[in-house]
Amino acid sequence: MASRDTAPLWVFGYGSLVWRPAFPHRRREAGYVVGWKRRFWQGSTDHRGVPGAPGRVVTLLRAPGERVAGMAYEVEPAARERVLANLDHREQGGYARHEATVYRTPNDAVAERALIYVATPDNANYLGPAPVDAIARQVVASRGPSGPNDEYVLALDDALRDLGADDDHVRELAAHVRALRR
Ligand code: BEZ
Repeated sequence: MASRDTAPLWVFGYGSLVWRPAFPHRRREAGYVVGWKRRFWQGSTDHRGVPGAPGRVVTLLRAPGERVAGMAYEVEPAARERVLANLDHREQGGYARHEATVYRTPNDAVAERALIYVATPDNANYLGPAPVDAIARQVVASRGPSGPNDEYVLALDDALRDLGADDDHVRELAAHVRALRR
């Protein structure tokens, strides 16, 4: 049996990783994690905003009975350490590592122990809840080294639609953002 260190490394993406794989991978598969919900509650001062004018990106919150759709990646073994180091770098932006089972269907797992990165409410960039129209205005006004914040929201919404995934929070925010850009 493969030990924990030699077992394939899976990473579950629920934000930009859904549409933009950021590392070498052997394969990827759409799936979902259970017991979480996705919210645009994390401030971004290094990707979609800047210090003093943060954008908003997604994090996960515990939500019994709910599920979050995304993309699971089996990391290319030769790149394992580099990928982990790059992802852990995000911890500086407030994300902590968790493990979760990624499912294709309720009785069929893509990966039993995929890594997910979750921004916790005690990190310095955490913004928390706000009315959707306020989040949309902040998103439309924000831009960072990785590009405009509204591009991130709309790309995530498009990617989730392509997966056939329903996410009311992302869909509602994207609709507000589109209306503001008109
Ligand atoms: C994501 O794109 O799913 C993601 C990547 C790193 C930290 C949090 C989310």
